[in-house]
Amino acid sequence: MHESAAEKIRSIETPEGTFTVRLILDDLGSIYPGMIRYTVEVLRGTEAVYTYAVNSYESARPDSPIDTRKVAEIVFFRLAHDVASRPHAYTRPRFFTRPLPGSGTCDVVILQGSPRRFGNSARIASWCDDEAARAGLSSRVLFLQDMDIRACIGCYTCYNYGYCPVDDDMPGIIRALESASVIVVCTPVYTSTVPAGLKAVIDRCQWLHAREKVLGREVHARGLLVAVAGRRGTDPFVCVTRVVDAFMENLGILPAGPVLIGDLDRVRDVGKIEGSEGDVRAALRALLAPRDEG
Ligand SMILES: Cc1cc2nc3c(=O)[nH]c(=O)nc-3n(C[C@H](O)[C@H](O)[C@H](O)COP(=O)(O)O)c2cc1C
Repeated sequence: MHESAAEKIRSIETPEGTFTVRLILDDLGSIYPGMIRYTVEVLRGTEAVYTYAVNSYESARPDSPIDTRKVAEIVFFRLAHDVASRPHAYTRPRFFTRPLPGSGTCDVVILQGSPRRFGNSARIASWCDDEAARAGLSSRVLFLQDMDIRACIGCYTCYNYGYCPVDDDMPGIIRALESASVIVVCTPVYTSTVPAGLKAVIDRCQWLHAREKVLGREVHARGLLVAVAGRRGTDPFVCVTRVVDAFMENLGILPAGPVLIGDLDRVRDVGKIEGSEGDVRAALRALLAPRDEG
């Protein structure tokens, strides 16, 4: 996955046993250009009891006075001092983590990006839900508008520990996406792109990207975009398809050809556009069919 090297090691004898404090450098350049992560680990015997990590993308500017390596070195020396003076505080493991929920997994996950509960995207989501049920698969429509999802804060913590520190409903979405074999994005075009709520989820899926890259948890899903727009033609969909393609590519989701339905400012109801329901169902059915692995 990436190169690891122990940069500094200190062994500390205490009444609580022998501790080792290590400063490890990981070259994450294969994920982002020039990304370096420093991890400071405290081991009691061979058991890791404390981990601190910092990476070079956390500082806002490349010429920032915060030098990632210096930060890691300061933490290394402080931890070594702390372990020597209060070893009893390091006898049991303490980790920064945020576990994903144990339930909420299903075969087909449908991200419904419109804020309108009974609009066109919601209707399309219900066709997809029904199609999954007909194929005997479990499915779940996530109405993003009903969920508490905050915007990504660009802290890059996910590349340190494989979790996101923002406290909201995102763990349930990550869990669902990680387990799904098909991911459908149903969305309207809003000002040439996706609505803000869906964009927030897409950005926060950086967490999933980090889980794949840092923890090796791979998503093995196929993806489908179904988008609706007020205007006619293909022009309104240019940015939406790019954004959703980038989302899928980032996570290793294999996209099928999108279904793009325009002219809704005039027709209003997607159910009244001839062939739309059939096209959506057929596109999804093609993904739900068992794959020819040969
Ligand atoms: C804030 C907003 C921005 C929109 N921007 C566009 C746009 O840039 N291009 C377009 O063709 N339609 C645009 N539309 C129209 C919607 O894409 C269209 O009404 C769609 O059917 C709404 O889907 P929904 O019923 O699933 O909410 C916009 C609608 C809203 C409310």
